[in-house]
Amino acid sequence: MSLPKVLSCYLILMLSAFTGADNGYYYSRWAECIYSSHDLSDMVFIDNYIFNKDVYVQFNSTVGKYVGYTEHGVKNAEAWNNPSQLQQERAEVERYCKHNAEIIQSGVIDKTVPPEVKLSSVTQAGGRHPAVLMCSAYRFYPNQISVSWMRDGKVVKSDVTSTEEMPNGDWYYQVHSHLEYTPKSGEKISCTVDHASLTKPIIVDWDPSLPESERNKIAIGASGLVLGIIIAAAGLIYYKKKSTGRILVPS
Ligand SMILES: *[C@@H]1O[C@H](CO)[C@@H](O)[C@H](O)[C@H]1NC(C)=O
Repeated sequence: MSLPKVLSCYLILMLSAFTGADNGYYYSRWAECIYSSHDLSDMVFIDNYIFNKDVYVQFNSTVGKYVGYTEHGVKNAEAWNNPSQLQQERAEVERYCKHNAEIIQSGVIDKTVPPEVKLSSVTQAGGRHPAVLMCSAYRFYPNQISVSWMRDGKVVKSDVTSTEEMPNGDWYYQVHSHLEYTPKSGEKISCTVDHASLTKPIIVDWDPSLPESERNKIAIGASGLVLGIIIAAAGLIYYKKKSTGRILVPS
């Protein structure tokens, strides 16, 4: 599993002086920490001083000193390239960049959240097989995940389609894998999900009996029917009793 580890941290100080409704001058300072190795050994600190959109003086920790890019920038670089200020800027690689990168690394990059796995039956829209199962993994991080199907102990490769890992927009992802199949009695179908957050894969077996919501609907319907019959029978008995009690006697 490899993740892009080039991160840059921004610290932007912005000052603007408006001289009119449309014109503005922008002064900003942009500090960047650039690295790509997990042990942070290739960390580079860049400190940019920007006027409008142009960097006019920059400290680059690989270069080890300030470099000016405009007349004003060159003057600043000359003034700032003194031992004490350079020592302070060079120390930012450790103090600012590596310190924050370690926090980001443990809190974000190395963080893993296990998926919630659900197996369900879905209605078919004219495929080659009469039945379709959907194995869904929700709310996992990072996005790399493996979803596979087993049928009677064998890995199923054909008639399987999977979506991409879809970002929820809140750092978590979801993925859905579909298996088209022709049901056989007594077979065992299961979905296996593996992810960096798990010590062993999650395996969910397909239970072909009716799902709980369907069972509930049937139970409610059956109770309603029984109740209806009881009320109807009670009504009938009451009516019979009433009509037999009132015997018309001819006068
Ligand atoms: C910093 O300096 C090194 C060495 O000159 C250079 O390779 C690198 O591109 C510079 N980084 C930036 C962001 O300018």
